Amino acid sequence: MYKLVCIECGKEHDESSYTCECGGLLEVRFEDAEIDFELNGKDLRVWKYRCLLPVKIEPITLKEGGTPLYRCKNISKDVELYVKHEGLNPSGSFKDRGMTVAVTKALELGKKAVACASTGNTSASMAMYSAKAGLKAYVLLPTGKVALGKVAQALMHGAKVIAIKGNFDRALELVREVCEKMGFYLLNSVNPFRLEGQKTIAFEIVDEIGVPDYVILPVGNAGNISAIWKGFKELKRFGLIDELPKMIGVQSEGANPIYKAFLERKEDIEPVKNPETVATAIRIGNPVNAKKALRAIYESNGLAIQVSDDEILEAQKELARKEGIGVEPASASSIAGFKKLVEDGVICKGDVAVCVATGNLLKDPETVLKVCGKPLEVNADFKEIVKIL
Ligand code: F0G
Repeated sequence: MYKLVCIECGKEHDESSYTCECGGLLEVRFEDAEIDFELNGKDLRVWKYRCLLPVKIEPITLKEGGTPLYRCKNISKDVELYVKHEGLNPSGSFKDRGMTVAVTKALELGKKAVACASTGNTSASMAMYSAKAGLKAYVLLPTGKVALGKVAQALMHGAKVIAIKGNFDRALELVREVCEKMGFYLLNSVNPFRLEGQKTIAFEIVDEIGVPDYVILPVGNAGNISAIWKGFKELKRFGLIDELPKMIGVQSEGANPIYKAFLERKEDIEPVKNPETVATAIRIGNPVNAKKALRAIYESNGLAIQVSDDEILEAQKELARKEGIGVEPASASSIAGFKKLVEDGVICKGDVAVCVATGNLLKDPETVLKVCGKPLEVNADFKEIVKIL
């Protein structure tokens, strides 16, 4: 059995709420659960862990989860580095784990339409899952700042896509108002059921390799780090593991409110007014889950760090060229963060670190062309080709 409670005042809420009257975020708490899965490295997928997922009806699923966990020896020999390639989910990002649960919840609650603000991936995933569920889908995007592949997905899967002249933070404010007034179900990560699906990243990591020393991931709206930490804590609570990892949140220098709050050991953030970064997925100045994320970092004895756009693009290339793993810039920030922590001697020989690669390379082809240049063009002539080989 589970209940939905405010993380600030503990008040219990019904399932259609997103936040408490006191302003606090909500979270699902499992009082008890009959664990019916084995952590044996087999059959990985989100719904393997159904006994810890808060839905009552048959799920809307596109077979999400079960993503590969690659051991990356070409990047790191001394530290046991793994990359969990969430870009290989059905829509190409980790959002699918949350969407399968939250779209199922939308149906359970009798909703007819869903909506989100997005830097791209949430909208792509929501459009896919709401198509499968037969729900109407509405998306607000920051105009000109969403990678092309993500917009293409949202459009093709039939969402109504509206680009606003403003950034993600403004889009989220507006969509919250739209949902309240129009009765749409809000599918941003302020929706606690999304985070329930995303906690299965922790379950799958443990299922395959046990508890690592570090889990490193990009932080934008700050839902995923909160979700993964919750996943580890639940496994411990139900006696499936003894240890917990340190959670490392990585932000871009131009969009770093969590990093700044962490430096001063604050419990909440000061929003960054005009966030800017090549990693458009995490171009967010006022993350809605900031408090949950900061708690995850403090409770786990983890860290928030920042990396530059150059470091992100360098790491994206290195992962692609040394390990054959293609990810979008935001995802590469986790590798950039890993490298920084190894350089600084925080992560050492013998440690086990998992970087979560949150989205696929194909999401953002335009940045690839900017970084790598276009293909060389020559006449269809053998000699001309040989000349440039
Ligand atoms: N990586 C990618 C590829 C993302 O798309 C996002 C968030 C994050 C990391 C950060 O995750 O928000 O849980 O801290 N993308 C959202 C979106 C904001 O609209 O697609 P977070």
